[in-house]
Amino acid sequence: MSKNVFLKLREFIYEKSGIFFPEGKLYLLESRLSKRLIELEIDSFEQYLYHIRKQISPTEELAAIYNLITINETFFFRFEKQLDLFINKLLPEVREKKAAKHDRRINIWSSASSSGEELYTIAMLLKEKMAQKLFTTNLRLHGTDISARILKKAKLGQYGSNSFRSNMDNYYKTKYFTNEDGVFSVKDEIKRMVSFDYTNLNDVSAIRKQRSLDFLFCRNVLIYFDKEMKKRVIRAFYDILNHGGYLFLGEAESLHGISSAFKVVHFPGVFVYWKE
Ligand SMILES: C[S@@+](CC[C@H](N)C(=O)[O-])C[C@H]1O[C@@H](n2cnc3c(N)ncnc32)[C@H](O)[C@@H]1O
Repeated sequence: MSKNVFLKLREFIYEKSGIFFPEGKLYLLESRLSKRLIELEIDSFEQYLYHIRKQISPTEELAAIYNLITINETFFFRFEKQLDLFINKLLPEVREKKAAKHDRRINIWSSASSSGEELYTIAMLLKEKMAQKLFTTNLRLHGTDISARILKKAKLGQYGSNSFRSNMDNYYKTKYFTNEDGVFSVKDEIKRMVSFDYTNLNDVSAIRKQRSLDFLFCRNVLIYFDKEMKKRVIRAFYDILNHGGYLFLGEAESLHGISSAFKVVHFPGVFVYWKE
């Protein structure tokens, strides 16, 4: 791929998804998209660019691109300290405050859910609380992603050992999965609690459709965006969170230089963003 074509392709991808490829990533983009060229029997990236440009609405091509370029790395019980804080402290607090106002709904969004491990983890944690009769609230657990391929996997709910590489307690694996020849399927009682759908975080109007959120998980996706896109997404996140709601980022992420709208709340070994 020539540098000229790379620059045009990256501009197209950035404009549509907010995913930004710095110049050092030319070969990465080339190797990821080369599968698509083979599929379409197109010989060069110049022709591929032409193929994209001649489409009035490149929806199908974009879906193929997102399936190839996104990094969907995720696993169950990722960043346990944060999850622990969420389930044992923040969730009971938010729930109590809302219940005092006769509002029994809790609305949770996993905004870059990948293959679903993040949202299923939250569902399992909540199920445990429900079993202990500590939780009777009306719940909405929704996951979205830009990759149709990965959303299909999330809906299917079948996982191999790679998804279980945290220190996750075997208790959950035994209780909430069936195991057939090493393929672990999420049981229906957990699957029924969640829903998955396509949302492109580059589309602020689509973000705004996720209204009245109490908890927003946006973990390990901002790293693929440039500063402008991060600011845009976070601004929209702030607007759709309820007052008293929380935003959770990935373990190595922060809003430093991106937004000062949230209040940073520190706990031992973890901090979270709060909309006061
Ligand atoms: C590394 S995974 C993170 C998964 C999970 N949140 C976690 O922390 O384990 C990043 C996900 O973000 C998704 N993604 C990238 N750009 C996106 C966009 N513009 N809109 C929605 N999802 C996007 C990718 O498809 C990928 O599944």
